Amino acid sequence: MTVAKASPISPLDPAAASPFYRQIYDRFRNAIASGVLKPGDRIPSARALTRELGLARGTIEAAYSLLAAEGYIVARGQAGTIVTPDLKPRMPASGALPEPRGNAAAPGTRFDAVLPFQMGLPALDVFPRKIWARVAARTVRAMQPSDMNHPSASGLHELRTEIAAYLQVSRGINCAPSQVFITSGYRHTLELVTYALLKPGDKVWLENPGYPPTRELLGKMNIATVPVRVDDAGIVVADALRSAPRARAAVVTPAHQSPLCVSLSLPRRLALLDWATRNDAWIVEDDYDGEYRYVSRPLPALKSLDRDGRVLYAGTFSKVLFPALRLAYLVVPPALVERFGQIVDAFSGGGPNLTQAIVTAFIKEGHFARHIQRMRKLYAQRREAAAAGLAGVLGKHMQIEAQPGGMHLVLRLNGRRSDRRLAARMEEQGMSAHALTDWTVKGDAVSALLVGFTNIDSECAAEQLATRILKLL
Ligand SMILES: Cc1ncc(COP(=O)(O)O)c(C=O)c1O
Repeated sequence: MTVAKASPISPLDPAAASPFYRQIYDRFRNAIASGVLKPGDRIPSARALTRELGLARGTIEAAYSLLAAEGYIVARGQAGTIVTPDLKPRMPASGALPEPRGNAAAPGTRFDAVLPFQMGLPALDVFPRKIWARVAARTVRAMQPSDMNHPSASGLHELRTEIAAYLQVSRGINCAPSQVFITSGYRHTLELVTYALLKPGDKVWLENPGYPPTRELLGKMNIATVPVRVDDAGIVVADALRSAPRARAAVVTPAHQSPLCVSLSLPRRLALLDWATRNDAWIVEDDYDGEYRYVSRPLPALKSLDRDGRVLYAGTFSKVLFPALRLAYLVVPPALVERFGQIVDAFSGGGPNLTQAIVTAFIKEGHFARHIQRMRKLYAQRREAAAAGLAGVLGKHMQIEAQPGGMHLVLRLNGRRSDRRLAARMEEQGMSAHALTDWTVKGDAVSALLVGFTNIDSECAAEQLATRILKLL
């Protein structure tokens, strides 16, 4: 049994047509019907609610009697009054809350469970939860009153220092902790960059196909996004120069292009940097999974080649730890530190100190580096196992592209089969899949499925899933 988190009763409306007791009754009934109050949840005692609302005790008791008479609540003596334990919500409440929508931008994503093929998720079954719990408990115990003060809007200094050191070693990026700003995720990072450096109507190059949230967020901020073709060497800079040479910025995923997983070639990296320098334009490097490369050591980040301070580097802990952390970071060139300091002061209240402190300790004690190394090996195995299992069953219907890195596979469908229709059918069957078409803006969209492999733990599991897909074809 849990105690109701908050009373569903806010101040009542004296001008309403219905009397107070009826308003109280309606609110509890709706809260129960919509699932906000669940069977077994405790509701406030009549005495406490009388005090809270400043009404006559008889008014509250009239509402509670009606709720009890209709079977919504039961009095349990000393244990208080609770929502009837085996109650099934039976009517659509007039004021029922809408169902959470999940992530409308990313079809196939659910938040209640890990779905087979779910994209963008690390292998949650092997996360070192015991170590994490130990580090977290120790961090909580060590908390001082000063740790409970308002956090710095730029992020915890110790974490910024650890990130700067990690980036130097792992991604070849030379930066000071003051250049690192902690954010609550990639979208927050992009929002800050937009506030700081762009204005409505500015043109920004985006990879096409590309990560839909980038396009959506910039579109909502009235930025004119320019889709630019991607080939085997990444974004085709020459195309972008032809279509929008005076763009103010480019957002790119150089390590493993999202979603095609190709790496941006060195000549293209240099061409991009050259364009940005000549035009005072900015490059946002979205390095969401640069660590996960399986054919060689991870490539250094584009930012490591940035001699003129044009690259803003967006990193995240979502892939290397887990996405529920909501912890990411932005590295800005030295000349922009002051401007970003002002922007975060204006737009962010800072992130949770405790989470940042736990991650800092996790990195400092070496667990982070060990975890990444283990995951790189594991993902190489799981990727091979998933590709083999899928190819064995579905090889006649689709081609599996072997890319150097990333956390998902691209399955190109043979013939004229629709990726959207197949992805929708897979969703109906409790699997996740993204249609490449949904990640593509106009042009000749290729029909392909994007499927995460990190949570598929064997070839046999992949074969079983492939057999389920086969039945849908
Ligand atoms: C292309 C791309 N960029 C960035 C991110 C990271 O997003 P966040 O930090 O909000 O979890 C993801 C996550 O799936 C991604 O696929």
